[in-house]
Amino acid sequence: ETGAITIDPGYKNSGSCTSNITFLDGEQGILRYRGYSIEDLAEKSNFLEVAYLLIFGELPTAAQIEKFENDIRKYTLVNEEMKNIIDGFPRTAHPMGVLASLTSALTAFNPKSVNVDNEKEMYEAVCKTMAKFLVIATWTYRKNMGYPLNYYDNTKGYVENFMRLMFELPTGPYKMNPVVVNALDKLFILHADHEQNCSTSTVRMVGSSHAGLFASISSGVSALWGPLHGGANQAVLEMLEAIQKDGGDVEKFLAKAKDKNDPFRLMGFGHRVYKNFDPRARIIKKAADEVLADLGVDDPVLDIAKKLEKAALEDEYFKSRNLYPNVDFYSGIIYRAMGIPTEMFTVLFAIGRLPGWIAQWKEMRVNKEPIGRPRQVYTGSPLRDFTDINNR
Ligand code: SDX
Repeated sequence: ETGAITIDPGYKNSGSCTSNITFLDGEQGILRYRGYSIEDLAEKSNFLEVAYLLIFGELPTAAQIEKFENDIRKYTLVNEEMKNIIDGFPRTAHPMGVLASLTSALTAFNPKSVNVDNEKEMYEAVCKTMAKFLVIATWTYRKNMGYPLNYYDNTKGYVENFMRLMFELPTGPYKMNPVVVNALDKLFILHADHEQNCSTSTVRMVGSSHAGLFASISSGVSALWGPLHGGANQAVLEMLEAIQKDGGDVEKFLAKAKDKNDPFRLMGFGHRVYKNFDPRARIIKKAADEVLADLGVDDPVLDIAKKLEKAALEDEYFKSRNLYPNVDFYSGIIYRAMGIPTEMFTVLFAIGRLPGWIAQWKEMRVNKEPIGRPRQVYTGSPLRDFTDINNR
C-alpha cells in the first residue's frame, strides 16, 4: 500500500492542477498573466483592468472596464452590523487576523452561495468580493488607530478609495497624491496572481469542498499571513530596521542567515520557483527609487536594503542556492514611504492578490476539480491492545 504513495513535502515537485491563468518560468524569471508579460502590464495597464483580465481571461474593452468599475460600486456599502464584529477586537489585534475574520463574516451577510456555472451570478459575486474586501481591509487599520470607519466614495477610483478609506479623517479632506496612487496601482498589479503559491493553493483546497467564495478567500488571507509567505514584506522591514538599529552591519546578518544553528533567514530573499531574479522585485526596486524621489523621502533603510542585496548577491552561500530578492524585499520600503504602517503591509499584499484568488477559485470550480484529499505514508505504531486506565 505505502509503495504506491510518494511523499513530496511542500509539494516541491508536484503539480496540483492545470491552469490558464498565470505562467511562471523560475529559471528565466518570467511572469505572465493570461499570456501578457508582467512588465507590459505593470507599465501599460491598471489594477482593475488586470483583475478583469485574470478573472475573465481577456483584457476588457473600454465599455467592459467601465461597467466593471460601476458594478463594483453597487456593492461598496458594507453592512453596518459588520461594525459590531470589528468592535469586538482589541485595537492591538494584527490586521491580518481581523481581515480573515471579517472576510469570513461576509458569508453571514451574504449567505447565498454562488452558482459558478451561472455567469451573471459569478460576475456579481466577483464585483461584490472586490468591493467589500477593499473596504474591510482598510477597516482593520482604522480599528488599530481608533479612527471612525470610512465609506467607499463611488465618485472616485478603486485605488484612490484605498488611500481615502485608510487615511481620510473627519477633521478635513484627504489630499490625494497621484504619485502614491500610481505606485500603489502598480504594486497591486505585481501582487495580483502567482500560480499555485501557498495561499492560492489554500483557496483552491478550501473551495474544492464547495465551501463559499468568502470562506475560501478568508483561508487564503490566513495562509498569506505567514512570515514565509506574504508576511515576509512586514518581516523584511523589521529585519532592515533591526540591521539599522544594530549599526547597519549587513555582513553580520548575512552570517546569521547562513548559520544553520540560527533560525534567522534573510527575509525577502529566496523563492520556491524563481531561481533567478523575481521579475516583480526588479520592477519594485526601480519604483522604490522613483517613488521615494517623487515624495522627497530619503530613507536610510532603502540604502541598507541595497547594501544587503549587493552583499547577498556576491555571497557564495546565496549564489549556490540561487537566492535572489523576491517581491517582498522592496515593497515594504515603498509602503513605508507612503505612510502605510508595517503591520498593514501584508493586508496590501492581500488586496493585490484578491483577483488572483478569485480567478483561481473560479477556474477550479468551473473545471469541476475533485475535492482535494491527498494520501500519506503512515509511520505511527502498529496495532496494539487497549490498556485500561488502571493499568497505565
Ligand atoms: C512569497 O510561492 C510564491 O509564489 C510566493 C510569492 C507569491 O507571489 O505568492 O512569490 C510570495 O511568499 C515570496 C517569498 C517570501 N518569503 C520570504 O522572503 C521568506 C524568506 N525566504 C525563505 O523562507 C524561502 O526562500 C522560501 C520560503 C521563500 C522558499 O523556501 P523553499 O523553497 O522551501 O526553500 P528551502 O527552505 O528548501 O531553502 C533551500 C535552501 C536551504 O538551505 P540548505 O538546506 O539547502 O542548506 O536555501 C536556504 C535554505 O536554508 N534558504 C535561505 C533562505 N531561503 C532559502 N537561507 C537564508 N535566507 C533565506 N531567505
